[in-house]
Amino acid sequence: MTKKLLVANWKANPDSPGRALVLAKKIEKATPKSKVVEVVIAPPFPFLLPVAKVLKKAKLGAQDVFWEDIGPYTSEISWHQLKHLKVAYVIVGHSERRRLLRETDDIVNKKVLAALKAGLKVILCVGEPKAIRKKGIGAAKNYVKSQLQKDLRGLKPKTKKLVIAYEPIWAIGTGAPDKPEDTVKMAQFIKTSLNTKFKILNTRILYGGSVTGKNAAAFLKHGGIGGALVGGASLKPKEFGKIITIASKIK
Ligand code: PGA
Repeated sequence: MTKKLLVANWKANPDSPGRALVLAKKIEKATPKSKVVEVVIAPPFPFLLPVAKVLKKAKLGAQDVFWEDIGPYTSEISWHQLKHLKVAYVIVGHSERRRLLRETDDIVNKKVLAALKAGLKVILCVGEPKAIRKKGIGAAKNYVKSQLQKDLRGLKPKTKKLVIAYEPIWAIGTGAPDKPEDTVKMAQFIKTSLNTKFKILNTRILYGGSVTGKNAAAFLKHGGIGGALVGGASLKPKEFGKIITIASKIK
């Protein structure tokens, strides 16, 4: 089985570089030496550099990337800059950006293609809102399928370095995660869609949305779920450490 990928998405936390370093060091310590699990820390941009300096086993992720090259794009972050900081993964299309910053599928698509072209690994976030899920898992699959079609338009067949994070919006930060059996179905559906459309096999599908030390095993024990994108619990080193331990023990 491919090793699980655990991504700590710190969002706009913590408030100081000092606290970011403490957190990063603890997560680094909890990351096993042997490569049984892959751990990625995605801090806010201003903390990428100090965090990078303390990571040896865990890898560095960024929470966003701009699609254009360097140039006159005030406040944007180019993949050049990320690559110089040894960023390995970028999160693209998180629902908070889609919702709060009106990031459209068109924008997400440009970011995915640019980041992949630059050689970065992309974690594309997809997931349906509550109103859709209320109509059933079939409606949720259709929603996700449409996101994939738009966000991956123009993707080269057999693309490697793509990870999909299935994050139902209603499960993010609510303490009410998806049912693992529904996530398994969705993960299989996403894999089949990617295989049919882009001839991509074995993409890792992560689950995200209120993952904790308590519920992580119920998701990660399934071969079809390739890991987790963790928000709130990644700010609590003990809790995230528990998730790392669970993931590293899964055979
Ligand atoms: P959460 O966030 O773990 O706090 O629900 C997950 C995410 O938004 O990536």
